Amino acid sequence: MTTVTGISRIAAARASGQDEWPPSWNVTPHAISTGRYIDPRFARLEHERLWMRVWQVAARLDEIPESGDFTTYEIGDQSILLVRVDAGTVKAFYNACPHRGTALGEGCGHFGRGRIICPFHGWRFDLSGNSQYVLERQEFRDGQLRDEDVALKEVEVALYAGFVFINFDPEAEPFEEFIAPLRALLDDLAIADMRHYWWKSIPVAANWKVAQEAFFETYHVPATHPQLEKTGADVIFGDRVDVEFMHRDVAYEVFAQGHGRFYGGKKTPMAGHTLAEERTGDPVDDMAGHLRLLLEGMDAVVLKEDLDILESLRGKPVPQGSSVQAQYVKALYAEAAAQNRPMPKPKPQILQAWGGEVFIFPNFMILPQAGNAMMYRSRPDRFDPDRCTFEIWSTRSYPASVKPPRATVERVTDGRDPRQVLLIPRQDLGNIPRIQKGLHARGMRHTWLAAEHEKIILNMHRELDRYLRS
Ligand code: FES
Ligand SMILES: [Fe+2]
Repeated sequence: MTTVTGISRIAAARASGQDEWPPSWNVTPHAISTGRYIDPRFARLEHERLWMRVWQVAARLDEIPESGDFTTYEIGDQSILLVRVDAGTVKAFYNACPHRGTALGEGCGHFGRGRIICPFHGWRFDLSGNSQYVLERQEFRDGQLRDEDVALKEVEVALYAGFVFINFDPEAEPFEEFIAPLRALLDDLAIADMRHYWWKSIPVAANWKVAQEAFFETYHVPATHPQLEKTGADVIFGDRVDVEFMHRDVAYEVFAQGHGRFYGGKKTPMAGHTLAEERTGDPVDDMAGHLRLLLEGMDAVVLKEDLDILESLRGKPVPQGSSVQAQYVKALYAEAAAQNRPMPKPKPQILQAWGGEVFIFPNFMILPQAGNAMMYRSRPDRFDPDRCTFEIWSTRSYPASVKPPRATVERVTDGRDPRQVLLIPRQDLGNIPRIQKGLHARGMRHTWLAAEHEKIILNMHRELDRYLRS
């Protein structure tokens, strides 16, 4: 029976703009309800209350390195034009000509002579969005057209760590508050110094959260990437009983603002660890074997030159009290110093971050390494809960003498095509549409969450609800 109080509560919620909240959208400490991934009404609510109000990565600065360079960012039905004005200034405009709405930029490019010119009737703007020229100006507003009537409309911008963050909401919380829980970590990891190596955009038949949550834990590694965790794979696919899993040592941390991270700890392959039974007797060989799987499987996180540095240690004695891993780190830093190439701060907690991930709420992931970083971004495809665009960047720092290339995106047509996507992300992308398909099952009301391995997922959904319910 609905009480008067109940009715008035619903009425009050409606009056305050709060929608009904079906049980299929609930989150508990153990479970995420499936409606959050498949319900078009939920996707609409996310658009209005999350994407239109949250700080989000619209671009890397190296997409628009020179004055006049532009790129575009699409979220839901909104398109934003990002323009490099000068070395320290980027403007983010609604991608619409104030005359009759024509999108002023498509993809990326360059506005020559500092002029943004609408392709329809030629209205012209400077790089800061001020009106420069209106053909037959006297015809508008009874001859009283003011420049401010026809200036380009801006959204909020924050430049940080090599990213252009934007926010559609002029009343948004300050960017500093949003990024505060991660700032020291990202600064020490030298993310600002990372530049384009390659970048792919992949259409994925799954909700944007399903796609990114496949990268929020290493619990999936033995089953999805058996080549990376052979002993674990033997437990899952063979007849072995439980054994020492390397990824059991991964540590997960969650922060305010929905952010999170995981990191490898001492016993992961990135830290040079090899399970006793997999050791060959040559520690360089053992470590190189793991790094080669990452190089060949991703061409990110471990680059060819990193493996070459490790191989150069072959046959060299390891000083008393040191390890191959410590010698490798030393050699990486020595080589980078010789090239005058920026590197993360070599503090213990930063070295620990290698082989892990930093998650920036709501949809950006960074896998930091020595002098390089892999990055992921997951975005809804307009308002379709079953489709998203998943992007992968391989970035690296460059020697001071080398001018990094302008970042350009390669559009992948099929994420499961070995000619377009390397093995490790392809293994992940193979699962993602299957997860989405399963989430539609009427016998499936919610997912189950592991307390540690999947805590970044829970923290993300709780923060998402903070946006959706306010
Ligand atoms: S729509 Fe841009 S000048 Fe007319
Ligand atoms: Fe994976």
